[in-house]
Amino acid sequence: MDFKAEIIKLLTKETKLKDADLNNLISIPPDPKLGDYAFPCFKLGSNPKNAAETLKKKLKLPKFLSGVQVVGPYLNFYVKSEVITKEVLTKVFKEKKDYGKQELGEGKKIVIDFSAPNIAKPFGIGHLRSTVIGHSLYKVYNTLGYKSIGINHLGDWGTQFGKLIVAYKKWGKEKELGKDPIKYLLKLYVQFHEEAEKDDKLDDQAREAFKKLEDGNKEYLQLWEHFRELSLKEFQRIYQILDVKFDSYHGEAFYNNILDKTIKELQQKIKTKMSDGALIVDLEEFNMSPVMLKKSNGATTYHTRDIAAANYRLKKYNPNRFLYVVGSEQKLHFRQLFKVLELAGEDKEKFTHADFGLFRFPEGKMSTRKGKVIFLEDVLDKAIKLASEIIEKKNPDLKNKKKVAIQVGVGAIIFADLSNDRTRNIDFDWDRMLSFDGETGPYLQYTHARASSILRKANSKVSSKINFSLLSLDEEKAVIRLLYDFPERIVKAAETYKPHHIANHLISLAQAFNEFYHKCPVISERDEQMNARLLLVDSVRQVLENGLRLLGIKAPDEM
Ligand code: ARG
Repeated sequence: MDFKAEIIKLLTKETKLKDADLNNLISIPPDPKLGDYAFPCFKLGSNPKNAAETLKKKLKLPKFLSGVQVVGPYLNFYVKSEVITKEVLTKVFKEKKDYGKQELGEGKKIVIDFSAPNIAKPFGIGHLRSTVIGHSLYKVYNTLGYKSIGINHLGDWGTQFGKLIVAYKKWGKEKELGKDPIKYLLKLYVQFHEEAEKDDKLDDQAREAFKKLEDGNKEYLQLWEHFRELSLKEFQRIYQILDVKFDSYHGEAFYNNILDKTIKELQQKIKTKMSDGALIVDLEEFNMSPVMLKKSNGATTYHTRDIAAANYRLKKYNPNRFLYVVGSEQKLHFRQLFKVLELAGEDKEKFTHADFGLFRFPEGKMSTRKGKVIFLEDVLDKAIKLASEIIEKKNPDLKNKKKVAIQVGVGAIIFADLSNDRTRNIDFDWDRMLSFDGETGPYLQYTHARASSILRKANSKVSSKINFSLLSLDEEKAVIRLLYDFPERIVKAAETYKPHHIANHLISLAQAFNEFYHKCPVISERDEQMNARLLLVDSVRQVLENGLRLLGIKAPDEM
């Protein structure tokens, strides 16, 4: 039973408000003592308190409610705790891995553009954020019934390839390249920028080289193809560690042969103009700098390729929503892009830039040009190493130590990212994010493992045929309420494109569970009580697993 929906039904009868308005107005009070749902009566008249009183008298309470109460301008609804308990525990037990699944998005599609590292450059920390946030939203939308389409819009085209080709032809050695491709290409890239400061002809040569590449020069294309392959191989290693997959790897270069067509079609729909030899869309009346479609030397741009990609995806997938998970520094780029698409007749409501802040390291700001970068693989390796040291100390006899260390180390990094509102900057803090008892990934994993261990020790099969009235302590009710709210948190994460709504909910659940476990013995209780509490423990374990899965984090049974 959906209690909120039932309360909405009740209120549509007595107030003249629409379902959708009621749905927005009704909230969950922060303190459970104030009831399970609260309805603010401001819209019912100039004196909301009186309106709440009147409404209270008129309502005929359905069976699942134990009462209603006026608190200030609110009418608060209390659901009988036994009803909630039975409802949610039966549901989790029945649905298991599917608890949280919904049909909201049935028949709808969402394209999610995420990760998108740049070929011949290191997989950066910004790309890690995009990967982790995008991957989580991908799963969240799938769970809600949407079909998610994950696209890795690889940065495999652009002027930087002109620079690389020039550098490689001047200083590059095939043998060195094979050893550690990305580090070597980065070295050449840095060398190019150092030399270019002394010799301004180099930049011209790079522009020329890129133009030649765009015009299909065989030798340059071969070099480019080679760099691309080597880079992809390294990226795959990272995706494997993170267990992330994509439905498409069409990067920027994929759109090369439709760019001219894209520009022509665009010109039929909107006004473009020449400015200093370049072809642009003027956006002055919208207070934005122009979008450049073609540079004065005829080379295309990042923008042109994004317009082509959007058109291609609209045709190919016909999605209802379109999400770009890209750092905040590209806000202007996407405002411009969406404006051009809107001017060309697309529905602007479909497009969202889910932007995010920086992951800041104590080492300070990065610069690819100067070669000052933190390699993601080093970060992952360090996390795994630290996790394995902690496990060695806490549980040296653990089976699968290596596998669990990877799950915990990687989980710590993912959670440090996803537990923050994505728009905020995050300071990297190794000790904090790996701690087993802070608000961390390992804490959730540890709580999951603890619940699993209780179930193993119990030696009695979990069943949903229990006496639900035996779970009536405050600690138990708090856990049950959080289990009940889990599906709604998934919807919230989807609507705002912010997985932290799920991450933080899991922390509350784990904390409530640990309080419960501290206060309420499970295994030593008499059978009837033990069976009731075992069902509660199993439900928590299941919801932690499901929630962690939506974040892209593994839930080991032992650690
Ligand atoms: N490769 C780009 C970068 O590293 C990100 C691409 C994002 N996606 C897009 N459709 N523009 O900055």
